[in-house]
Amino acid sequence: MTYSRRKMIGLIGGGVVLAATASAGGFLATRRPTRALAPWASAGNYADPRMRALSYAILSPNPHNRQPWVAELQGEDRLIIHRDKTRNLPATDPFDRQLTIGMGCFLELLRIAAADDGFVLQTDLFPLGEDGPVAEIRFEKGGAKDPLFAHVFDRHTNRNGYEDRAISADAQTALAKFATIKSAQGDVAVLRDLTWQAMEIEMKTRHVMQESVDLMRLGKAEIEANPDGISLGGPFLESLKLVGMLRREDQLDPTTSGFKQALDMIQKAMNATNAYAVLTSKGNTRIDQIHAGRDWIRLHLAATGQGLAMQPVSQSLQEYPEMAKQYAQVHELLAKPGETVQMLGRVGYGPAIDASPRWPLETRIAHG
Ligand SMILES: Cc1cc2nc3c(=O)[nH]c(=O)nc-3n(C[C@H](O)[C@H](O)[C@H](O)COP(=O)(O)O)c2cc1C
Repeated sequence: MTYSRRKMIGLIGGGVVLAATASAGGFLATRRPTRALAPWASAGNYADPRMRALSYAILSPNPHNRQPWVAELQGEDRLIIHRDKTRNLPATDPFDRQLTIGMGCFLELLRIAAADDGFVLQTDLFPLGEDGPVAEIRFEKGGAKDPLFAHVFDRHTNRNGYEDRAISADAQTALAKFATIKSAQGDVAVLRDLTWQAMEIEMKTRHVMQESVDLMRLGKAEIEANPDGISLGGPFLESLKLVGMLRREDQLDPTTSGFKQALDMIQKAMNATNAYAVLTSKGNTRIDQIHAGRDWIRLHLAATGQGLAMQPVSQSLQEYPEMAKQYAQVHELLAKPGETVQMLGRVGYGPAIDASPRWPLETRIAHG
């Protein structure tokens, strides 16, 4: 099997994005889901300052790229931010903890973008309680710019293997402002093992993997029709799909050779990690989760500024019964008693990658 084909299959099983892994050329160019990537190009091109800030906020990291945010514009200067519960992930995120972290990322990027535009946001979280809107926000003139804004377009979730070299001392110091960085050899070895075990459980637990398979968008046409979820595109994957070698149902069957090779390739990528970033919180309220999201995107933007790649590896943090042992282990390793590990991610030097799809901002606006 050629390297390219092995790599493709790995990407499939990884439940991960795209892969412009083919040599450049016309076919590659035509398979790029340009419409699904258009929101990256149109960020900032809006007359209303709230729309301008929102057009950046929709580029936030969020679980399974569900993009559950909905914005309601009220009066001249107010925004109500909702979370669309039809986009929940009941198997992998039964308590909506990760989705709430994603909303925290969104609110922080909204704040950073508005600050760059000369606005400061007055934000009231969960003004009607946890079941109501996530935030009520007023835009006011003023505030200081945030240097992290410079890295918004370069921040992507990078699921490749990272280079076998330590992250620089300067970068470690920069990131330590935002999260605990684990880079000692012993810690890294234990975390590699644990995060891999958790990934294997997730992929082999059928009702959990089903959630991911249902969200797979195979090829450009599916990605453009639903620019969210787990996008698997690029010319190689398209060719495989054409000849019947990329089938949704195979991704659920651990006995198929494609599944086994996928597992192998994901393991190789996950093993190619020399450092992890950890975010914990004392409590685990909705507000704590929002704060974790704010911290996570700041960390990811800062890492991007340092030339570092990142990927959350959330499997061991997930609260379903089949993961109970790994959940307990990761908490014993990384948290004090009673604390919650909100985020765990790989950090390192990775190859350049493309952006992931987004729904156009206009489709995320509620018209009351
Ligand atoms: C709370 C949270 C958990 C995530 N967990 C994972 C994960 O376990 N594995 C992964 O590859 N990506 C994970 N992601 C990254 C998302 O899949 C990613 O942000 C989304 O697909 C959009 O892609 P982008 O970050 O490249 O813009 C997570 C993101 C968030 C906010």
